[in-house]
Amino acid sequence: MSRMFRIAIDGPGASGKSTTAKLLAKKLGFGYIDSGAMFRAVTLKCQQSGIDPSNIANKDKVTEIAQNAKIQFPTLGQVELDGQNVSNLIRNSNITRNISQVASNPDVRNILAKQQRAMANGELPGAQSTGFIKHDKIIKGVVMDGRDIGTVILPNAELKVFIVADVRIRAQRRFDELKRRQGANLKETLDEVERDLEERDLADRTRSIAPLKKADDAVVLDTSHLSIEEQITAIEEMVYQRV
Ligand code: DC
Repeated sequence: MSRMFRIAIDGPGASGKSTTAKLLAKKLGFGYIDSGAMFRAVTLKCQQSGIDPSNIANKDKVTEIAQNAKIQFPTLGQVELDGQNVSNLIRNSNITRNISQVASNPDVRNILAKQQRAMANGELPGAQSTGFIKHDKIIKGVVMDGRDIGTVILPNAELKVFIVADVRIRAQRRFDELKRRQGANLKETLDEVERDLEERDLADRTRSIAPLKKADDAVVLDTSHLSIEEQITAIEEMVYQRV
């Protein structure tokens, strides 16, 4: 099998990385792996199993849940947990609030890291690539987004991008997304969404295992004043320069 062109996109919550990564993957014919969705799916499975991940006594149970969770990306942007489509369920705020304990569990990270690397190398089904043609060659690849993709999961990725954006702008984007999904059922205010984001940023940046951090060789892209289309074009140019 030809080698995959791996694009690692890291950055804080609501920086636009998932939307960018997904549409970029679509444009290039690459697979898309949303690593955050994998942590969200494990958190959902804990909740469905009545296990509170914040209780340290449950650490081994949480690990077992991660080990047995079958997480796949059947079509672009869709997430399956044990055969069920959980794409919307995993975005609920009660998942987001409980995710830090799951994401800071080193055993859970190791289990998901193995799956993430195997998917990125095309060894597991879950994020298929048709690729694009350049100089009569088919270039297949994968876009993976998260917090530690360029630093820990794919340290030899062919391209690393670190996305940043103003916290207020990120809060507005997340708020708009929640409103779209939940409509009149949305309970939170914009200020609460911003506070949640700041708390999660701090937890992601300061945790001892796989913190959110720019890889030395990552390109920084500030999306505060860029449209999604502009973000995609910027990264697309970087890809074409490198193949
Ligand atoms: O990108 P997101 O908001 O869906 O991520 C959800 C959470 O998962 C976030 O709080 C950090 C964690 N996460 C992580 O620890 N490592 C990753 N590679 C991706 C996400």
